[in-house]
Amino acid sequence: MQEKLSPSMFIGIQGDDYISFGSGQPDLPPPERVFKILPDYRQFKYGLIQGQENLRNALSKQNQFKGSDKDSFVITNGASEALDLTFRAICKPGDKILFHKPYYYSYIPMAKLSSFEPVFTETIKGKIDFDDFDKKVRDCKCVLINSPSNPTGRVQDVNTLKKIEKLCADLDITIISDEVYKDLIYIRENYMLSGPHVVTINSFSKTFAMCGLRVGYLYSNDKKIIHDVIELKTHTSMNTSILSQEMAYEATKVPREYIKDQVKIWEKRRDFIYEGLQKLGLDLWKPEGAFYVLPKIDNPKDAVWNLFKKHKVITYLGEWFGAPDRIRLSYALDVEKIEEGLKRLEKYLKETS
Ligand SMILES: Cc1ncc(COP(=O)(O)O)c(C=O)c1O
Repeated sequence: MQEKLSPSMFIGIQGDDYISFGSGQPDLPPPERVFKILPDYRQFKYGLIQGQENLRNALSKQNQFKGSDKDSFVITNGASEALDLTFRAICKPGDKILFHKPYYYSYIPMAKLSSFEPVFTETIKGKIDFDDFDKKVRDCKCVLINSPSNPTGRVQDVNTLKKIEKLCADLDITIISDEVYKDLIYIRENYMLSGPHVVTINSFSKTFAMCGLRVGYLYSNDKKIIHDVIELKTHTSMNTSILSQEMAYEATKVPREYIKDQVKIWEKRRDFIYEGLQKLGLDLWKPEGAFYVLPKIDNPKDAVWNLFKKHKVITYLGEWFGAPDRIRLSYALDVEKIEEGLKRLEKYLKETS
């Protein structure tokens, strides 16, 4: 019988013939120019808690943030800290936050740490059911939208996003929009949720493959949220690494082609794994963005354990994401490795059928 499974058992395992469909970190390298500053970099003092001005200025000039200025951004230790601080800045005891299922596994512990009560809306094949959303959101303080989604790879319809935007504005409900995969969409341009009641969360981890450098940010037009987040950050992590911010600043200068080229690679991998899993007879939704698939499987706990122990294949348990009949596979690895992983999965399925 397996031990109690948890993501920490798998994060960081490499080599020794393992195929890891586990952690969601890009294997592609960051843009070369982010390393160019290193030999001459000599800063070492505390930086601004809100984040370095050059990086915030560069973000405010991006098309998606048209009309904004540097004061509407806080640079954080990845999207993770941006989410945590936003939850804590907004939440008062007894407040509820709405998540669409399946969800990114850190949301729930983070919500509980800030004393939010998590509530859930079910999705249909990974897409938000607006009628159910409408019913559940009414007594919530805020809602978290993650499109494209980890773990489903699904992208919410623009129509649904617009309806959510309007409903939440009318009801004065804050939308926390986690857009860390916004540049990795295969079906259309991103639709950015916006308005005075929206807090946008983003990161350099996925688009620029800079996860270990820990740079993310939040953007809001609500001055109180920005103020409260800075106040919390002052007494917790203080400034985000100034070296990492300088590297992120370099990444903002990378031409759009870099991202387009990456998306082509992800899309090829998406097609390969989606078709491969379909051929194995697994039931799954076609990912439209990000780099995850979430197939159904019999006895998911045994599957994750035996794939790991007997076949040296790392997968994540759907239960961690609120999808107990599924497992999650990240396809952030090259096609040869995906092919080998699928062969091992096929072997496992034959053994257990
Ligand atoms: C949906 C989602 N949000 C946030 C994060 C955290 O990203 P970061 O590395 O920027 O902290 C992840 C990481 O996998 C994620 O999938």
